Amino acid sequence: MKTELSFANLPGIKTELLAVLAADTQTSKAPDAKPEPALLTSDEAVQAAAADVLSSGEYKAGANETLLLHAPAGLAARRLLIVGLGKQAKANVPSVRNAAGTAVRFTKPRGIRELVLALPENNFEGPLHAVVRAAVEGAFVGDFDPDTYRSDRKDQSVQSFTLAAPAEADHAALKAAFDEGVIVGESQNFTRFLVNEPGNKLTPTVLGRRAAEMAAEVGLGCEVHSTEKLHELKMGAFWSVSQGSEEPPALIVLRYEPKGVSDGPVLGLVGKGITFDTGGISIKPADKMEQMKYDMAGGAAMIGAMRAIALLKPRVRVIGVVCAAENMPDGKAYKPGDVETAMSGKTIEIINTDAEGRLVLADGLSYARQLGATHLIDAATLTGACVVALGTINAGAFSNDDATYAKFDSALATSDEKFWRLPLGEEYAELIKSDIGDIKNTGGRYGGAITAAEFLKVFAEDTPWIHLDIAGLAWVEDSKPYIAKGPSGVAVRSILEWVRSY
Ligand code: BES
Ligand code: MN
Ligand code: ZN
Repeated sequence: MKTELSFANLPGIKTELLAVLAADTQTSKAPDAKPEPALLTSDEAVQAAAADVLSSGEYKAGANETLLLHAPAGLAARRLLIVGLGKQAKANVPSVRNAAGTAVRFTKPRGIRELVLALPENNFEGPLHAVVRAAVEGAFVGDFDPDTYRSDRKDQSVQSFTLAAPAEADHAALKAAFDEGVIVGESQNFTRFLVNEPGNKLTPTVLGRRAAEMAAEVGLGCEVHSTEKLHELKMGAFWSVSQGSEEPPALIVLRYEPKGVSDGPVLGLVGKGITFDTGGISIKPADKMEQMKYDMAGGAAMIGAMRAIALLKPRVRVIGVVCAAENMPDGKAYKPGDVETAMSGKTIEIINTDAEGRLVLADGLSYARQLGATHLIDAATLTGACVVALGTINAGAFSNDDATYAKFDSALATSDEKFWRLPLGEEYAELIKSDIGDIKNTGGRYGGAITAAEFLKVFAEDTPWIHLDIAGLAWVEDSKPYIAKGPSGVAVRSILEWVRSY
């Protein structure tokens, strides 16, 4: 998708489709109070073109509600699309992100290849640069469709997206925000592309290759290791998961080392990269097992975040570690009852081979520490229990350090992603003590997201650490006007903003 920021006058813009935003300005809560839709664009010609339909009562400017006018009078545009933000009082930056996605997803199936979106200007709360960035991100998010392997697939992606900003705005500031939005949107879509790939197409080796190709493009350091290196590093936990598959594991390391930054923190981004999770010997039921191709979404989020970091160039060193493997049942597979020695030296009793994510992450966290990480963040589709606890609205977050988590919490204000912090504690840690070794890999049915986090905490040791359980949000189950059903790319934006806060 080609993108452009324009400061031209709206009526004169020649385009297939001009999209403008509207909100419901009705403040009365009386039962007979009718919606009062109003455009968030003050241009008189645009106002005049939309006046009739806005007063007709047909259109309420509800969130992501659309209305299309052909040959709008007085405008050079061939079509005028109105996209609603809902109640004016609640309209904010996230609602503009979604509205931009809605405009793009409205355009795509109609065979229209270009559109111009006018930025909101009237009475809009929130700084204009944040609105610009969000609108561009939303456009990229909306442009993604998961139908990669349809043999009759028509590429319906939008070829040209232009954001029209008021001429009197600060051009340089908006351009910077615009360029940022492009980088973030493209990186989030790169993550979504990886997550969408089926297990036979995206093996651990292929994930490593994709990461290396991306790294070469954006100037990141990258090494991809396999079985031998796992043995050399004594990664018994990671290796045990991979041992049941014909596909070799991949230990993917990405390095961002900005010139002239030789001290200060080193941030370690660790991702779960299970390219398919059958459950192993503790095999999963067949129903919905196909979904487990997205069990590498945490790893893909780290790869996407590293891409954005390389392009946005924050003044802090970052290391990405993705532990990729397939979890399969086999004569050589690891078994319940096995005891494995992790890279840290801790011994782990395997209770359930389907609790494999924490095993690969355990060694990933140890390795990131060995490589010099002073602060850790991991992301993983780790537990069904987290989905039971928080549904598909909030992802779970955990931390052993309040100051580090506070920075993540502030990052959420920019990323507009929903994470809910859950507790850790000694009583939970008790649940994963093993009779035969140091710890076991499951802590029973209750509090499953928390005992999984307690397991990871053992391997973060004394390093400040954040754990993100994205099992419930990595895949969008029902399409929305602004995003297709499929991979969401969740966590990329939040991890990026957390990194930029250092
Ligand atoms: N990959 C799954 C978790 C998952 C579930 C991700 C649903 C996305 C959607 C993970 O490896 C797993 O199987 N976890 C088990 C842990 C249990 C055996 C302690 C689970 O949640 O059931
Ligand atoms: Mn599993
Ligand atoms: Zn898994």
